[in-house]
Amino acid sequence: MAKSITQYVCQQCGRVSASYMGKCPQCSAFNSMVEEVIQLETNSEARKSRGGRIHKSVPSRIDQVSIKDETRYDVSMEEFSRVLGGGIVPGSVVLISGDPGIGKSTLLLQLTLDISTRQRTLYITGEESEKQIKLRADRLLGENHKSDHDLYIMNETSLSRVIQSVNDLRPAILIIDSIQTISDDEIESPAGSISQVRESSSKLREFAKSENIAIFLIGHVTKEGMIAGPKVLEHIVDTVLYLEGDRYQSYRILRSVKNRYGATSEVGVFEMRGNGLIEVRNPSEAFLSERMLNAPGSAITVTLEGTRPLLVEIQGLTSPAQFGNARRTTNGAEYNRVLMLAAVITRRLGLKLAEQDIFINIVGGLRISEPAIDLAIAMAVVSTYRDIPLDPTTVFIGEIGLAGELRLPSQLPTRVKEAQKLGFKRAVIPFRRNKGEPLPDKIEILEARSLYEAVQLALPKKEKS
Ligand code: TYD
Ligand code: MG
Repeated sequence: MAKSITQYVCQQCGRVSASYMGKCPQCSAFNSMVEEVIQLETNSEARKSRGGRIHKSVPSRIDQVSIKDETRYDVSMEEFSRVLGGGIVPGSVVLISGDPGIGKSTLLLQLTLDISTRQRTLYITGEESEKQIKLRADRLLGENHKSDHDLYIMNETSLSRVIQSVNDLRPAILIIDSIQTISDDEIESPAGSISQVRESSSKLREFAKSENIAIFLIGHVTKEGMIAGPKVLEHIVDTVLYLEGDRYQSYRILRSVKNRYGATSEVGVFEMRGNGLIEVRNPSEAFLSERMLNAPGSAITVTLEGTRPLLVEIQGLTSPAQFGNARRTTNGAEYNRVLMLAAVITRRLGLKLAEQDIFINIVGGLRISEPAIDLAIAMAVVSTYRDIPLDPTTVFIGEIGLAGELRLPSQLPTRVKEAQKLGFKRAVIPFRRNKGEPLPDKIEILEARSLYEAVQLALPKKEKS
């Protein structure tokens, strides 16, 4: 016989409490506790009957553990394959999360269409109809495709029926779009609540492991967090990928933040086009493709996404403030970092930024928080303020401290090499007391101890008052 208990679960952080609380003691969110009724099982038979089998395991000596038979399903999109750690591992559970409308369904449908030419796949959708998926698949494949796809689509939200269909069809890969729409009939809380998301995904994991099926879960991130955030899921799955980017711009970055089967520093770059997400093999070139040469307020820097260097353009614009307080607006750069840089420029270079609105934009919709782009932001501001363009073949790399001093970023040689590869002639970098690893020699290196020195090197002109 099943017994039930009532508990209150914070929908933001998953904190469980026996009684209702207006404010969550763990994450301090207000009115986030929701009543949930949990069915307790009294014996393991009940658990068995729900689909997942009980896993019997015995200890193995480490030298007897076989790693040879770890086959992976190949993924044709190289950018995706690399982020996964080189293909899909059978029995693994991968979570792909990101803002609504960023392209998660598109990416996974493309993946499914690719794999289904070799393996059987099942795409469960709780959000769109089967017809919509079919129309999208046709659009992604283009008109005259001839390939044969062993792909099944099902519009379903009940976990038990999903498991039933998988048992009937035996696909190698299962896609759940999205985990927030799936509900387990044995839990009374609504689909999308923390308990549902946690329970359904744990069951799916158990199922993936016992049947050796690879499962991809799509999870939405919502600002309010009233729908269970994928945070709860991160502990349950093997791999967590984030699809990021600006909805209104075309570039998307797929980042792995947890991966039991590969490195976590990998990123894949894609571009959203009319026929789906296209791989960007040379992102640095792509990010600089629309650059206006010799425009004041534009500075190029090299940022690291994982282990991958990317050249990006930072744009700055200053304009006299209209209504009292000057405003600072950032797109892609950290707001507080820009405030700090504006203060350093004001104090150390004497520019009168207090009367200026400042806008900072990172081209391509990237969001960069690493301080290695400080120097480029500062140079963009100084360049726009003085209305003098920076040399378009120079890159600026370095972190700025409060005294205006420049500090070395990590992996400087990798960054400089990428700049040289793309034909840049000069790199302005922080002074290196200890020369360490050599820098590429086909690019001129200009070392500066401070922002002031960097400005002297790059914009050698007396300041207008
Ligand atoms: P979608 O994959 O539905 O996003 P998510 O599942 O993350 O919510 O894609 C959303 C956007 O992508 C949608 O606004 C339209 C756009 N899009 C394209 O630009 N080209 C395409 O080929 C497709 C399929 C979608
Ligand atoms: Mg979707």
